[in-house]
Amino acid sequence: MDKLIIEGEKKLFGEVSISGSKNAVLPIMVATIIEPGNYVIEKVPKLRDTFTMIKLLEITGAEVDFNEDVLTIDTSNCNNPEAPYDLVKTMRASFYVLGPFLSRFGYAKVSMPGGCAWGPRPIDYHIDAIKQIGANVNLLDGYIIAKGEKLKGGEINFPVSSVGATGNAVMAAVKANGTTKILNAAIEPEITSLCEFLNSMGGDISGIGTNQLLIKGVDKLKPANCKIIPDRIEAATFLIAGAACGENLKINDVNPKHLEVIIQFLRKVGCEINVFTNSIEITKPQKILPVSMETAIYPGFPTDVQAQWMALMSLASGNSTIIDTVYHDRFTHISELLRLGADITLKYNVAQIKGVNQLFGTNVMSTDIRASASLIIAGLAAEGITEVSRIYHIDRGYENIEQKFNSINANIKRIKE
Ligand code: EPU
Repeated sequence: MDKLIIEGEKKLFGEVSISGSKNAVLPIMVATIIEPGNYVIEKVPKLRDTFTMIKLLEITGAEVDFNEDVLTIDTSNCNNPEAPYDLVKTMRASFYVLGPFLSRFGYAKVSMPGGCAWGPRPIDYHIDAIKQIGANVNLLDGYIIAKGEKLKGGEINFPVSSVGATGNAVMAAVKANGTTKILNAAIEPEITSLCEFLNSMGGDISGIGTNQLLIKGVDKLKPANCKIIPDRIEAATFLIAGAACGENLKINDVNPKHLEVIIQFLRKVGCEINVFTNSIEITKPQKILPVSMETAIYPGFPTDVQAQWMALMSLASGNSTIIDTVYHDRFTHISELLRLGADITLKYNVAQIKGVNQLFGTNVMSTDIRASASLIIAGLAAEGITEVSRIYHIDRGYENIEQKFNSINANIKRIKE
């Protein structure tokens, strides 16, 4: 297992480019199963999760080639609508194959994902959604067996807006015999980009970007090509690192519209920020002001940036509160931040952070993708050396993390344990 050795108190400056979005590419990759043929997807990040999804596509019978950042997928010979436990347990997003399998084969056998790194994450909305449009669903030996040769459309009303369940419902409904209405649909940019991709294949989805989607089932789709949107969570991570240690740090290849809430919050912290068409420049404030935050669905403050915000607030000149309303138990980073000298207490989903003057480097453990990102930010700001172990978590969601940070004057080494 690799670990990262981070030299603290480095000033970050220069320019860094953001990769294509993990959470946008994963559903688009599986959407290629729906219609047999050849697809070319550009700006694909080289992540553990992308490679896991490639493995899953290959198990179904797809041929995949990954060259530079271009992924070519031929789904002509897919014939195995099964997602095994070994893959699904390592990456929950594998569950996204449910919709495409049903759409193409009228049948899906998908392992239940089990818990994730920070706790249970249910799949009931995915199941209820496909039942609403005519699928028959059973649970057998830890697998969801869904049958739906004649999906017929229907009305799906999500009790809570869900990114994954919306994606699955849309992919299941796009070729159904009839119209599907989704109420309380997710409006995250990653779902918008999936819907746009399906429309470029000949789908008929309207209301894209709103929380009411109307999907008129079509008989036939055709393969299409696309370019993945910039990763707003990776961009937010670099911006927060800039808020902690940056001076004229320029983050390139971003979509500032997807980052409005982050920019707004970083300005409240006191950062100097210049927004350009595809890039954002940030300089840390003299004094990091404490800014409380509550996570919410898009366009609110993303839960995927909660841990990084906590690292920043640990260095603020005062007290703040962070509430995660999306995942009440996504706080495994707290005990690691405490090891670096942070002062944080947690009651249910409410964290109280007392800013400290200085964090101090030591050994910490990465527990999930975004928790690891928070430890890197804290380590970059801390005095001394921080060693982050179990960094396979970070490799799931961040491309070349240490090279990217080193290109802006950090000193992060990857070593084998
Ligand atoms: N929920 C249910 N039942 C379901 C599905 C969701 O109760 O069947 C609840 C969840 O427990 C949560 C809320 O609904 O409280 C929203 O979860 P959502 O379904 O939107 O999450 P997801 O689709 O499983 C995606 C991202 C996550 C990100 C969340 C929230 C992907 C591959 N994953 O997960 O990303 O945190 O949306 O924005 O897109 C990450 O990248 O590190 C990551 C975890």
